Amino acid sequence: MDGNGRWANERGEERRRGHAAGVNAVRDIVTECARAKLPWLSLYALSTENYRARPRFEVMWLMVLLKKFLIDERPTLMENDVRLRSTGRIDELPAAVVKELRKTEALTAGNRGMTLVLALNYGGRREIADAARAIAEAAIAGKIDPAVVDEATVGRHLYDPTMPDVDLLVRTAGELRVSNFLLWQISYAEIWSTPICWPDFRKPHLVEALAAYAGRRRKFGGLLPGAGR
Ligand code: IPE
Ligand code: MG
Repeated sequence: MDGNGRWANERGEERRRGHAAGVNAVRDIVTECARAKLPWLSLYALSTENYRARPRFEVMWLMVLLKKFLIDERPTLMENDVRLRSTGRIDELPAAVVKELRKTEALTAGNRGMTLVLALNYGGRREIADAARAIAEAAIAGKIDPAVVDEATVGRHLYDPTMPDVDLLVRTAGELRVSNFLLWQISYAEIWSTPICWPDFRKPHLVEALAAYAGRRRKFGGLLPGAGR
């Protein structure tokens, strides 16, 4: 979700106004995706780099918005049968935020519609490094034979081993980079980018992204029928 700051700058407003407006887009898009029966939606809300490198004031404001979102959205999540989960180094977030996150996760755990994953203090390289450490520790403890470590082993040691591979990666605010998001899971993701800043991203843009995805022919390294001799 990129472009909150630019959205605010264009209006002569403070950056935090852009983040507040971004929350409205989150609510709308989560609801639309649940109605469209998408099985999973992962939102990159905060990277480890955002958390470390942004001014303290901005990070604290994001934490205020996040905590409020986790409380306020409970009825909407329940109404739309959405199960909330999270990924990233949650343990490093403020305790008050973690408490509301765990509460909302527990409340929605039985929902069977869409799974919404909030990536918070998340870094793709860090996730893979954390998996490598967990595998090394299991090997030292004699629980894993290093000779059999393969892609599936790594997959089982990611933050959420049940998360499927990403089918469609949507970038807003015209960005054309991956920014350390779900590096393991996006190997064969189709990428779609829009100049729209996140606070303005709504159903028509979502529909456009899904239509573009529907038109892609995915090969996963193989060939399509009629590819020639
Ligand atoms: C994305 O908007 C929101 C978060 C990182 C939380 P930005 O804050 O990155 O917006 P720009 O890139 O400055 O426009
Ligand atoms: Mg940005």
